[in-house]
Amino acid sequence: MTRVTVSVSGSYDVLIGSGLLDSLGARCAAVHAPCKAALVCDSNVAPLYAQRAEQSLAAAGFDSLRFVFPAGEKSKNLETYTALQNFLAENRLSRSDIIVALGGGVTGDLAGFAAATYMRGIDFVQVPTTLLAMVDSSVGGKTAVDLPAGKNLVGAFHQPILVLCDPDTLATLPEEYFRDGCGEVVKYGLMSDAALFDSLAQAPIRSRLEAVIARCVEIKRDVVSVDEFDTGLRRILNLGHTFGHGIEAAANYTVSHGCAVAMGMAIITRAAAKLGCCPDAAVQRLEALLESCGLPTRAPVPAEAIFAAAMGDKKISAGRLHLVVPRDIGRCEILSVAPNEAMDWLKAGGAE
Ligand SMILES: NC(=O)c1ccc[n+]([C@@H]2O[C@H](COP(=O)([O-])OP(=O)(O)OC[C@H]3O[C@@H](n4cnc5c(N)ncnc54)[C@H](O)[C@@H]3O)[C@@H](O)[C@H]2O)c1
Ligand SMILES: [Zn+2]
Repeated sequence: MTRVTVSVSGSYDVLIGSGLLDSLGARCAAVHAPCKAALVCDSNVAPLYAQRAEQSLAAAGFDSLRFVFPAGEKSKNLETYTALQNFLAENRLSRSDIIVALGGGVTGDLAGFAAATYMRGIDFVQVPTTLLAMVDSSVGGKTAVDLPAGKNLVGAFHQPILVLCDPDTLATLPEEYFRDGCGEVVKYGLMSDAALFDSLAQAPIRSRLEAVIARCVEIKRDVVSVDEFDTGLRRILNLGHTFGHGIEAAANYTVSHGCAVAMGMAIITRAAAKLGCCPDAAVQRLEALLESCGLPTRAPVPAEAIFAAAMGDKKISAGRLHLVVPRDIGRCEILSVAPNEAMDWLKAGGAE
């Protein structure tokens, strides 16, 4: 088992290791007195893992209650949030009770936002079961639900008291979602760790899950502990995402998030090489690694459409875009560019 300690407002451990799901109760008991535990999971994860989680919680003295919602991003909204709040209130959870989010990023974001706001905030534990949730969404304290006008528009910063990653749960994760998580893993290597990047090129991620997840969590921890509330350095985590979000929107969400991030990373790295900021070899290494993960490197939508969608993204401040640009594998910088320059980067990156 690997332990990564995150020190932000409050300090918590991220534990990564095979079989940890069965020690959920004991691990919770180490950070919180036994109480009521609202276990939140979606309709795919509940039949797979909820019973084991409940047995473990019960054995450690927790009184667990299960809330299940229909799987999918469509459920990450105010209706499901309200249903969850009502469930907590009807079951008389108090400020000293906890929520346990068991599932992917949708579950973590929804349950985390409910925990941030129920009775002005109660403790919660993250048990991520997708690769994306393990390396990204469960760490850092961002919680949110979507509005019809856009994703993650209503939310709060609320750090978990414990994150428990059991890589064995990834055995049941459909391949397409595993691949999406690989996009984020490659991002961490390209962004700040050439050794991680090289290790991914040498052996498949599946063959060394604990080490890869732990390293990604450490990298995210290092960023969020400097910029807990997303006012500066945290933007670096958007590598591949500015154009990636544009691609997702321009393609009407027919391209998955991980695939769009892969395309976004490939575009910005090709552009950086073309504009002389980064060696050509970095482009070849990135494209080869993405392809070995089954991820695409070319966008299926025109540059104009990506640009228009990226300009609508909420992360744009004062009419300028923050582009995270690789200087080499494992090293990048944040550039603030005017909209017309962003178009130049897109074109230089081979978006047509
Ligand atoms: N809070 C953050 O910092 C942050 C960061 C990145 C992404 N996100 C959010 O995360 C969400 C995406 O997360 P996701 O990709 O995990 O989506 P998800 O939660 O919808 O999970 C993907 C699919 O896998 C299924 N699933 C989950 N675990 C499984 C398992 N072990 N076995 C079988 N099936 C399983 C789910 O039911 C779902 O169908 C988005 O809403 C995004 O906005 C948040
Ligand atoms: Zn992402």
